[in-house]
Amino acid sequence: MEIIQPAVQPERAPRKASEPLDAYLSKMGNNLVTKFHVLMRISQIYDSKNVALKQFTQESLQVINALIQQAGALSLKVVKNDLYLNEQRLRYSVEGFTSFKYLITQWRKRRIGEIFFKGLVTEEILKEVIYLLMNLEEGGEENATLFNDELARRDILMIEASPLETFEGEEDGTALRKEDQREVGKKVFFETVGTIKEIITKIKGKQQADVRKLKRLAQKAVHLVMEDESILLGMTTIKNYDEYTFNHSVNVSIYSLAIGRHLGFSKRILTELGITALLHDIGKAKIPRETLNKPGPLNGEEWNLMKKHSLMGVEIVLNLKQLGEVNPRMVIGIFDHHLKNDPSGYPKLFRKKEMGLFGQIIQIADAYDAMTTPRIYKKVPYTPEQALAVMLKEKDGQFDPLLLKIFIGLVGIFPIGSLALLDTREVGIVCKPNLDPQWMDRPQVLLVARDAKGFVKKEVVDLTEKDGNDRFKRSVVKTLDPNKYHIDIGKYFL
Ligand SMILES: [Fe+2]
Ligand SMILES: [Fe+2]
Repeated sequence: MEIIQPAVQPERAPRKASEPLDAYLSKMGNNLVTKFHVLMRISQIYDSKNVALKQFTQESLQVINALIQQAGALSLKVVKNDLYLNEQRLRYSVEGFTSFKYLITQWRKRRIGEIFFKGLVTEEILKEVIYLLMNLEEGGEENATLFNDELARRDILMIEASPLETFEGEEDGTALRKEDQREVGKKVFFETVGTIKEIITKIKGKQQADVRKLKRLAQKAVHLVMEDESILLGMTTIKNYDEYTFNHSVNVSIYSLAIGRHLGFSKRILTELGITALLHDIGKAKIPRETLNKPGPLNGEEWNLMKKHSLMGVEIVLNLKQLGEVNPRMVIGIFDHHLKNDPSGYPKLFRKKEMGLFGQIIQIADAYDAMTTPRIYKKVPYTPEQALAVMLKEKDGQFDPLLLKIFIGLVGIFPIGSLALLDTREVGIVCKPNLDPQWMDRPQVLLVARDAKGFVKKEVVDLTEKDGNDRFKRSVVKTLDPNKYHIDIGKYFL
């Protein structure tokens, strides 16, 4: 049998000594998924002789072969709605979301669960793999076998596909609907983060920003929050401090929508609230990045500029033409979001002004998200519980007591994302609060267990569940600080 040697030697992309293996795999994995996405798409448009395809295949080879060299083999696998690279689940970046989605959908449609590379790959082999894969008939249960047979016919024996595994509950309509909603939630979340980023970049570059998309996304978010608020609330635990301003705006919007929903707002008002919250810090687009990300305390001049961001935000929003009719509520919400009863609030006013409802809601959401997110100048954030305690202690009633009560009720005594120790000695992450005031201390919890690679997901349990003797099967003993256990909570909500 002819042994095919790689035409292009892999570009060595060795892991730096200082870079942890997880981080390396995650970065390379995201890169790999993007490459697969583009290759799969190109193959739908061009034939295998196309020049664009040739060039892109060569680029992709470098990533694939570097990974194969690193670990001796490469396995890319779809499990439920996740992707695993060499058995490690890949977390996607904001930019990578579309590629992940595309790859998972296309493989699932073709009932392919895994592609395993046992040796280095050449340009010709990679093209064969991609075209064979994309030409498989959708829904074909024998596709993995067909694919392997076709590869064998071409003497390509170092690549092997396995069929998609189906899991308990997947065939069940309700489980699927929930799963679908979760997928929509992820999509809305990441698209919104991306859109905010785009808008801020446009404003920084003094270009016209298109905000129609933001409006559509806010409508989708309202819809989701009305259906099941825990889906989007869970996403707020994805704390990414490199992208602080973008993630923060989206989180503040999710919390605000959940509060607004409990106040009984109509869909129209909720959408306005959602947009206002998304744009509450838009004025920061006018503040230099160095000031925003300064690790130490701000000097007088920098602080004075920072305090102008609510007012600058008002100015920007009034100039966003595509926002359509801007309701005064929205402008006032942005203006108010740092007003306080004491001199630390801003902007400074000549006459005392009552805060509007939008501003009050956003202020609560803003404070909670800021405290629970790691920042460049405060790498270890408050746990959800500690943040709520600080907010409750705020002097002079900075937060409206009724709104704060709603917020605490909504995130629960054990807010979503809290790490909890149970009386069964199990450890879990609170994933859905119990909205029944009587059972606020009995949320739904995703159990996690420690194995060699860290904490892995187990099942979701409901703490209201009882045993045969009418006793609760599990109760929370206390919450734990995830930072101490090196648990990245956001990971479990993806
Ligand atoms: Fe702000
Ligand atoms: Fe903010």
